[in-house]
Amino acid sequence: MMKQDLILILDLGSEENVRLARSIRTLGVYSEIYPHDISRRSIEAMTNLRGIIINGGKNNVVDGQPIAVEPWLFTLGIPLFLVDYPCTGSISDSAAPSPLCRQADSLPADDKDLAALLSPFIFEDCKAEANWNMSNFIADQVALIRQQVGDKQVLLALSGGVDSSVVAALLIKAIGKQLHCVHVNHGLMRKGESEQVVEVFRQQLGANLVYVDASERFLGKLAGVADPEEKRKIIGSEFIRLFEEEAVKLGKMDFLAQGTIYPDIAESGTKTAKVVKSHHNVGGLPEDMKFQLVEPIKFLFKDEVRACGLELGLPETMVFRQPFPGPGLGVRCLGAITAHRLHSLREADAILREEFAAAGLDRQIWQYFTVVPDFKSVGMKDGYRTFEYPVILRAVNTVDAMTAEVPQIDWALLQKITNRILAEVPGVNRVLYDISPKPPATIEWE
Ligand code: XMP
Repeated sequence: MMKQDLILILDLGSEENVRLARSIRTLGVYSEIYPHDISRRSIEAMTNLRGIIINGGKNNVVDGQPIAVEPWLFTLGIPLFLVDYPCTGSISDSAAPSPLCRQADSLPADDKDLAALLSPFIFEDCKAEANWNMSNFIADQVALIRQQVGDKQVLLALSGGVDSSVVAALLIKAIGKQLHCVHVNHGLMRKGESEQVVEVFRQQLGANLVYVDASERFLGKLAGVADPEEKRKIIGSEFIRLFEEEAVKLGKMDFLAQGTIYPDIAESGTKTAKVVKSHHNVGGLPEDMKFQLVEPIKFLFKDEVRACGLELGLPETMVFRQPFPGPGLGVRCLGAITAHRLHSLREADAILREEFAAAGLDRQIWQYFTVVPDFKSVGMKDGYRTFEYPVILRAVNTVDAMTAEVPQIDWALLQKITNRILAEVPGVNRVLYDISPKPPATIEWE
């Protein structure tokens, strides 16, 4: 028996559906978006369903034809809320309208007004309980995962990012040793990150974890490669190759777990809104390795993923980890990567992160990191001329990473970071702060 009540939103292509789902969850009630042509059987199987919202809106048209929902929806005896959708319109005469059928012309733009509009429907018509919380979510998912997986084996590429870490923790709770995690360290992780993955998942949570330190192999493949796109390609394909090698060694795996989250599905357009984003599988696994997918957080928004991670006992540094590009430090060690510059980059990055955390900026600034270019400048040390690399500091705030602004960092903090880098990081004689917004710059340098 599912622990949380459900309000279902039928997707007729409105771009407001995600906002609607979010608003309902803010009221403490779980909500999901489904295609408008969901089958009667699927709906009847939802034992926790309390109400349905049919949100017409401007996009309720495909190829010039208005979309209609199935007439039987009006006869289920489940409370309905019709937004910008005719109560009769395309409904067949034979279907008697549901006794509980609320209507609105549109959704208020203001979030407070939206919540006020939804509240009486959810709590009075549907009699839903505000029982959407992480511990109920986890209990439900654990039951669902056990039901789906049975006694079979599950494979997971554990990068150490927020989403894959939360999926791992959830699966460990549900199926323990039937989960097989593979963590590939490409040698381009930040300081201490791979170690933390091993410590948390293997030592603390007792996971089956294959840890592959492939630093040397990656550095070898990247030696002398200066072109950013070429570097990305090498890192990406080598990463997949290594993961495959380890997967094959593990023997038969029936399921592949993935950290797909709700914005991946909902905001990239649903079935009705023309395209469904096809989720990239872990690329190119051998043809004969057929997997079914386990995607236990695919209905969570990012902040909910983090809350779920905390509830599962993951450390805050993992749960609130800033975004980190797949190719990692590889795109921040500009040009052809050398072990020496990579070391300077990693040490400088660790200092920046430490000082930002100490100043309380780690949760305020969206992304911050260091870059080491592949040119040197002249400097002075102990009365002697030096010829060494600079370190560039980068910090940005953004909503969607499409545009970004550079925050004004306290001068004293910048000086402290600079002094520490110059004193502690070998081979560096200059520190710069990049104040370029995106556009015209990008967030990363490569
Ligand atoms: P840019 O540099 O394009 O970056 O402004 C926008 C955001 O995307 C991240 N980024 C990447 N993420 N693989 C990734 O998974 C990549 O190759 C990659 N390149 C950039 C970047 O860190 C920023 O958050």
